[in-house]
Amino acid sequence: MNRPYITAVLAMTADGKISDYQRSPFRLGSPADKLHLEARIAEADATLFGSGTLRAYQTTLRITQPDYLAWRISQEKPPQPIHIVCSHAGHFDPHWPFFAQPVPRWLLTSNPHLTHWQTDFPGTFEKIILCQETPGLKKWTFSPSQIPWEPALHQLRQLGIEKLTVLGGGNLVSTFVENHFLDELWLTICPFLVGGENAPSLMAGQGLPLNAAKTLQLNAVKTVGQEVFLHYLCQESENPGKNH
Ligand SMILES: NC(=O)c1ccc[n+]([C@@H]2O[C@H](COP(=O)([O-])OP(=O)(O)OC[C@H]3O[C@@H](n4cnc5c(N)ncnc54)[C@H](OP(=O)(O)O)[C@@H]3O)[C@@H](O)[C@H]2O)c1
Repeated sequence: MNRPYITAVLAMTADGKISDYQRSPFRLGSPADKLHLEARIAEADATLFGSGTLRAYQTTLRITQPDYLAWRISQEKPPQPIHIVCSHAGHFDPHWPFFAQPVPRWLLTSNPHLTHWQTDFPGTFEKIILCQETPGLKKWTFSPSQIPWEPALHQLRQLGIEKLTVLGGGNLVSTFVENHFLDELWLTICPFLVGGENAPSLMAGQGLPLNAAKTLQLNAVKTVGQEVFLHYLCQESENPGKNH
């Protein structure tokens, strides 16, 4: 495999929203969901999230559970995975708590102007991965401002990232789903209804017609309190809409 194994982990309301219309910086899940999220992060070599997610929370989730930290040490992994934010615009504030959290931070971008972050704001990003379209590789439907994901993921794999956990948001998840990069999806259904056209959903963008929908295979279901934890495998297979 010339890319990492990719798992997305998100929580959503019963009406499919991953935040409210104000994009409030509150996590939807309960303490049980936070534990679940930490466990998934503990399994990863790196996490990846869009700048919209970083802008909303201004922080990332560190592993704090002693069991998970001990497991990582037993596996000869560093205590915290690398936290990778992807952005072209690079509208970050170096004063966000994220930049002071004791985690390795990388920036993945297609914008050469963002490399100044390492010189202007030392300590913000340990590494900046500049990934631009390579002539001869698959043509992407993205604009030139978009990270070409196939070479970017290949580069992450070359840098030793075997397991990548995508933490959101909807823009990034839809890109990964539509380009068949997702191997697993963990979804926590939280007992809320928030509605709102402007509230972000699990997948952003125009969406897929049913005859091109991504088909998921349900691998496990667990209920803890009022929340349902779903685990899907994202295998390539026929989808039901194709026959209609
Ligand atoms: N419930 C949950 O589990 C959960 C998890 C995560 C996030 N959220 C919520 O989701 C919302 C954020 O989601 P979102 O969809 O607005 O944003 P997002 O997916 O987190 O980030 C989108 C941004 O990421 C960058 N990006 C994505 N794909 C790119 C590509 N191919 N090339 C270059 N840059 C790329 C761009 O950044 P630039 O614009 O900087 O170029 C883009 O604007 C927040 O409200 C947050 O609370 C919820």
